[in-house]
Amino acid sequence: MDLSSMRKKYKGDEDCFEENQLASLDPIKQFKNWFDAAVECPEIGEANAMCIATATKEGRPSARMVLLKGYNNEGFRFFSNYESRKGFELETNPYACLVFYWEPLNRQIRIEGTVDKIPHQLSSDYFHSRPKSSQIGAVVSRQSTPVPNRDYLRQKDAELVEKYKDCEVPMPDYWGGYMVKPYMIEFWQGQTNRLHDRIVFTKLKPGEELGEFQHMGEEGWVYQRLSP
Ligand SMILES: Cc1cc2nc3c(=O)[nH]c(=O)nc-3n(C[C@H](O)[C@H](O)[C@H](O)COP(=O)(O)O)c2cc1C
Repeated sequence: MDLSSMRKKYKGDEDCFEENQLASLDPIKQFKNWFDAAVECPEIGEANAMCIATATKEGRPSARMVLLKGYNNEGFRFFSNYESRKGFELETNPYACLVFYWEPLNRQIRIEGTVDKIPHQLSSDYFHSRPKSSQIGAVVSRQSTPVPNRDYLRQKDAELVEKYKDCEVPMPDYWGGYMVKPYMIEFWQGQTNRLHDRIVFTKLKPGEELGEFQHMGEEGWVYQRLSP
């Protein structure tokens, strides 16, 4: 299958993304600006779906989609199984890269950071805020481990529905939240003429000076434009 002529029309030069169009020089606020636009865009079903890449400590990468469940100045929060493939990779190599792609807006955001588990209480609060069927689903699924067939899961689910029908589902200790604490956030805006816009925010290390094309941002961030 030859896909060499597959090409989408992006925005015109009049719609380009200049530095003075940044909603904020704090990339978390800029994230909010783009994220809110994605949430409001009717063609985007799940604006909070993001790809997260992790890697083994030998550097072999793996990636999958998860849902962003919150963000603030500290970082970006999602929930998963601590004993899944990503869980084991994060255990020995606590770095991740997140990618959002909002196709109708021609926008991509790429975030790199260190990853910590969030406090147990916060995970528990979120766990119990989910529908009971989702709570049971998290208990049923020893994520990323092989099972004999679908019936095995169906039966386990039915057993747990019965077991917990009159009481709270305890959060399994292998389930909880992670916080990706960013040290790099890149905003990409696609353009028709292929002169796509890329503005990347990073943190200066102690004692490090601004590079030739770097500008001072806010909250300890600096930013610069990258060639597309
Ligand atoms: C749109 C979408 C959202 C998902 N959200 C989550 C999530 O929030 N947490 C999660 O553990 N898995 C989520 N998944 C499933 C993961 O992609 C993946 O199958 C699972 O986490 C196991 O990954 P692993 O074996 O690499 O650890 C989602 C999948 C899709 C397609």
